[in-house]
Amino acid sequence: MVDQLIIFDTTLRDGEQSPGASMTRDEKIRIARQLERLRVDVIEAGFAASSNGDFEAIKAIASIVKESTVCSLARANERDIARAAEALKGANSSRIHTFIATSPLHMEKKLRMMPDQVLEQAKLSVRFARQFTDNIEFSPEDASRSDIDFLCRVLEIIINEGATTINVADTVGYGVPELYGQLVRTLRERVPNSDKAIWSVHCHNDLGMAVANSLAGVRLGGARQIECTVNGLGERAGNTALEEVVMALKTRKDYFGLALGIDTTQIVPTSKLISQITGFVVQPNKAVVGANAFAHASGIHQDGVLKARDTYEIMRAEDVGWMANKIVLGKLSGRNAFKQRLQELGIAMDSEAEVNEAFSRFKALADQKVEIYDEDILAIVSSEAQVKGDERFYFVSMSQRSETGGHSHARVVFTDQGNECVGESRGNGSVHAVLNAIESRVESGAEFLLYAVNAITTGTESQGEVTVRLSKAGRIVNAVGTDLDIVAASAKAYLAALNKLLAKTEKLNPQLTP
Ligand code: KIV
Ligand code: ZN
Repeated sequence: MVDQLIIFDTTLRDGEQSPGASMTRDEKIRIARQLERLRVDVIEAGFAASSNGDFEAIKAIASIVKESTVCSLARANERDIARAAEALKGANSSRIHTFIATSPLHMEKKLRMMPDQVLEQAKLSVRFARQFTDNIEFSPEDASRSDIDFLCRVLEIIINEGATTINVADTVGYGVPELYGQLVRTLRERVPNSDKAIWSVHCHNDLGMAVANSLAGVRLGGARQIECTVNGLGERAGNTALEEVVMALKTRKDYFGLALGIDTTQIVPTSKLISQITGFVVQPNKAVVGANAFAHASGIHQDGVLKARDTYEIMRAEDVGWMANKIVLGKLSGRNAFKQRLQELGIAMDSEAEVNEAFSRFKALADQKVEIYDEDILAIVSSEAQVKGDERFYFVSMSQRSETGGHSHARVVFTDQGNECVGESRGNGSVHAVLNAIESRVESGAEFLLYAVNAITTGTESQGEVTVRLSKAGRIVNAVGTDLDIVAASAKAYLAALNKLLAKTEKLNPQLTP
């Protein structure tokens, strides 16, 4: 019998801790639906006690997701655990994930607790969590810098209390594959009741070794759960990239010998959705999901691939969900064809009114652009989702004029809480002028951290996708705007970012305070 490996996705929790990647409740729900389509085993939906917003998002995800287990993070204290349990109440299958730091550095400097106090708190927390569920994960935070004897003591007690998954956290990405793999193995060998729990790996990418460490934890250590995020999103240098570990395990099944439940054809659509929602653009040469991951430029390689694909390809693009820019719809396509394509793409709309709204956007686009690709449909749905809520600003129209060697001038019309505003400004180039025009009316004072343009499909007729990252008073947000005109896409992205930045949300980033 082939062993099964559990894929635990933490894009919505650890991934969201990337500066600027915080997501709204609706965005989290869209991602959770897609993660379920990808067939991840566990979705860590958030950190219920970190904010009311996160609590509500977990609660909504718990009631919607049916196939994957839904999990909430909780510090090792009764308030956090009770909050997690409350948020997860409606789930088909749920898990509470509690953690406390075990390294001398974290215990002394961060927690200001003695090791025995940490041990006691961990024990009481798991005991408390058992009142709500028998699916409990425990993470010794900063495990890779913890004392092995102490770790063994803690983990034995925690498993006796009923923890069913033990997650060996390489919190600061300090691990090296061989050593990290040995750590998991030693823990499994030395903790007397280790066979009563599933062992899990959780690696950060500070030294670029998160994927290698996770795989070593599996192969050398015998772990049977990997914690990961789509596109490797996460604090600092990020987490183990889901797409990379999954495809490594699948492509090298001869070596790892493990079975996975993942539907790999959903990898690229999931990656695109997350990139679009968070505004974290995927680098072109990123393994599996980068735009160039399957592109062959050199003549020798192209020749080889044309003769036999496996000369230079170890995976097939279509197996990870790359679609070859297929024209799917056009100007004459009707509402039914559009609706059917939404279904085929796995996009669930909440109401017929939403389908109608998306369809009229599709029609408007089809009037300007002859060929509509799946990527265009995804962009329509994303921009639809961005303007669905009670947003403060909505883009209406813009005009701009520029001349080589001279200033550009722009006029932007948008609404601010339903009232029409017109901003006009000059700038060094059209994008600068358009953003100045908006800023002349909003006066947000936000700092501009990032501006990036990307083509959604190939060819000059492609829609442009603009990502904008703004910061103000310690808060960082990302937003995306799409349009056939990249200057209009810039205005949309800027207004969407202002909507996020100026919204009255309590949450910045759910940082883990002691
Ligand atoms: O990196 C870490 O230690 C974590 C824990 C909460 C598992 O994310
Ligand atoms: Zn982490």
